[in-house]
Amino acid sequence: MRITVIGCGYVGLVTGTCLAEAGHQVVCTDNDAERVQTLKAGVVPIYEPHLDGLLTSNMRANRLSFTGDADSAVNSGDAIFICVGTPPKENGDADLSAIDNVARLIATEVHASKLVVEKSTVPAQTGQQLKRVLSVYRRDSAVEFRVASNPEFLREGSAVEDFLHPERIVLGVEDENSEKQLHEIYRPILEAKFHCPVHWSGCPSATPPKLVVTTINSAELIKHASNSFLAMKISYANMIADLCEKVGADIKEVVNAMGLDPRIGPQFLNAGLGFGGFCLPKDVQAFVRLAERSGVNFNMLKEAEQVNKRRIDLFMEKIRQALWVIKDKQVGILGLAFKANTDDIRFAPSLEVIRRLLAEGAQVRAYDQEAMDKTSAIFPQVQFCRGPHDVARDADALLLLTEWPEFRQLDWTRIYELMSRPLILDGRNLLDPATMMDIGFEYHSFGRPVEKPLPQLMPSASAMLDSSPSISQQT
Ligand code: UGA
Repeated sequence: MRITVIGCGYVGLVTGTCLAEAGHQVVCTDNDAERVQTLKAGVVPIYEPHLDGLLTSNMRANRLSFTGDADSAVNSGDAIFICVGTPPKENGDADLSAIDNVARLIATEVHASKLVVEKSTVPAQTGQQLKRVLSVYRRDSAVEFRVASNPEFLREGSAVEDFLHPERIVLGVEDENSEKQLHEIYRPILEAKFHCPVHWSGCPSATPPKLVVTTINSAELIKHASNSFLAMKISYANMIADLCEKVGADIKEVVNAMGLDPRIGPQFLNAGLGFGGFCLPKDVQAFVRLAERSGVNFNMLKEAEQVNKRRIDLFMEKIRQALWVIKDKQVGILGLAFKANTDDIRFAPSLEVIRRLLAEGAQVRAYDQEAMDKTSAIFPQVQFCRGPHDVARDADALLLLTEWPEFRQLDWTRIYELMSRPLILDGRNLLDPATMMDIGFEYHSFGRPVEKPLPQLMPSASAMLDSSPSISQQT
């Protein structure tokens, strides 16, 4: 099938490339001319595992191309996927102006009937507006537009895997033809039969995804409701972590056991600095606004957002408690991206932590595998290092802000020796407290006990302890 993808950001690039991989003829367009030139040269302007290899192989196979000529692009596909950004406005609403622009372009430039698919994350009822704009601006009355919603559930860092091996494909449709056409587009993925070059450990490729066919309004709502639920789950785990600190429980032990209940599940219960990125924070805001406009009181979601905002305050307080005075201290940062396996720093907790540290007069050094270029454009005052050891050298504190698995494997004894003061504040609960404290670090994280476990006691000593009220070893 011939497919047009409008918007070459994370969603558009992954969608276009993976649909080409599924055997379709895909043309992608974007109004950023420089981005289009880069893509035409086969260079992927973002870091997303597996995307570059898949993109170049599909370009070579003549299934995938890029153009700055949007008018010709919208005419080339039988189906047009809208993958443009819907950033947050000041008041939290999703800014739908890019969707409106694209809709008017399609309406005025297209010469044959098309299926127009909303892939961008949008509030419920956007599909109705889209249909209205397409029909109001339509130049040729013989041209018929059908609209569908097909929300994406791609996680940055594993977006290619998520597209090719999804758990579900949601189709919001209003007519049989649109459903058939989308079913045909996704057939190779639905059958989970085509050869996929991305085989990562635990690939569930043998299990075909569930196909969920709904109305357009439901499909739009499914996306916002899913991301908002994930955000609430994270905030819930963060509140439990705060409680753990107060009552001397361990958040890891608590959520591990909670997650064994299939009704709860183990994922998205990692406590720490909270959620960032371009999706969860903005989707929560937009969902709250939708609820407000619809007269539904969704304070529960507002509170999840507030809990998330307070994570940075809490982290800064932990830094202040440990360092006392922040001014003139050498603070090293490991991890800048909003999560591991991406170079994306949009709404990353690291940005706010750095901003506050600089405001208090700290000397900041940082390292991240992928996100240093983007961060240096925002904070030229930060010194960016070649590796974690350079960050640690003579530092008064080391902050862990992204859960890159590589940080777990570091030679922490060497880092201990390099630091001026061996102090770690782990914003992602990535490291093992006992191991860190055994090396000699002062180690702080979220919701985990600060005491060292009691050493094995000799029988005579344990007999003595039995009669004493309570003993703990504070480090
Ligand atoms: C999110 C959703 O997970 C995807 O399903 C969705 O398709 C996507 O948004 C989107 O709307 O496009 P993503 O933004 O890539 O994906 O990131 P997540 O993996 O959801 O992580 C978001 C943030 O939550 C990160 O900052 C991460 O560090 C944090 N997080 C995640 C936690 O603090 N704790 C957890 O347990 C999990």
